[in-house]
Amino acid sequence: MHDLTAIVADITEEMLAAPDRGRPADYIPPLARVDVGKFGMAIVTLDGRVFTGGSADELFSLQSVSKVFALTLALGRVGDQLWNRVGREPSGSAFNSIVQLESERGIPRNPFINAGAIVVADVNLGRGAPRESLAEFTRFVRHLADDDTIAVDQEILKSESETGYRNLALANYMKSFGNLNRPPEDVLALYFGQCAIAMNCVQLAMAGRYLMAAGRIPDSGHRIVSAARARRINALMLTCGHYDASGDFAFRVGLPGKSGVGGGILAVAPGVASIAVWSAGLNAQGNSQLGTLALERLAVRTGWSVFDGMNVPGI
Ligand code: DON
Repeated sequence: MHDLTAIVADITEEMLAAPDRGRPADYIPPLARVDVGKFGMAIVTLDGRVFTGGSADELFSLQSVSKVFALTLALGRVGDQLWNRVGREPSGSAFNSIVQLESERGIPRNPFINAGAIVVADVNLGRGAPRESLAEFTRFVRHLADDDTIAVDQEILKSESETGYRNLALANYMKSFGNLNRPPEDVLALYFGQCAIAMNCVQLAMAGRYLMAAGRIPDSGHRIVSAARARRINALMLTCGHYDASGDFAFRVGLPGKSGVGGGILAVAPGVASIAVWSAGLNAQGNSQLGTLALERLAVRTGWSVFDGMNVPGI
């Protein structure tokens, strides 16, 4: 049996002392103020044990990690029809890149780059008002995490709404190809809102439980998605969850993972654990520098890897 208490303590100690911490995102101004000295980590195992380290209770901005939950909702709404409007290939490009959209006629490469997530937000908006759709999204995340305190950070939402020109360009460009049903401003109101949800590592690891448990929340047995769909969401997280660093993440960590520019990463050890790490300093690809390193250390210490069978003794 792995001593997860000791492993989490060791990793946390190493991360708090690490000299190379990356830089916080600054294109959403309030994110630039977040202290890169902090590190948090939470592991929730299939049988419901919770292991925490560092600032595991501190709220951070969910940002692109929200794209996993948004994809889950959108697949519930329209099923595989989603794939007529969004691809399933790694982009090899930055999360906010516009270049492929022209040659690929407004169909984003995958649901985790910004363009893809904006199409997913259009699906989740449906015919509703952005405010109601955001409330529905927030309720969904609260249900996943079993925590009704989770909420949108209004300062982050306002800030990104005022500065999100690149996303507005992506949305307008896709609209010109007919790949958005609703006005770009309305779609972005939902998209920026889902990104502005604040969560801590414990809440995020709890929210990810259905992905380690074949689509069900383990303690209640409540089904969120089918086992096949959970497997596919995990596949997309592995191949596309870290943008142009997805290959490196698979190589170093070997688990499905989704990052956000708030510095959070949700990782899934199928059948074993849901893991959240947070540290606000980012690497060149916009993924948490120490979050990635912490997950690499965890994978080495536990042997958890989707490339090695998950029936690790003792868990
Ligand atoms: O749309 C954006 O640029 C942000 N709201 C989210 C980007 C993000 O988190 C990319 N992830 N590493």
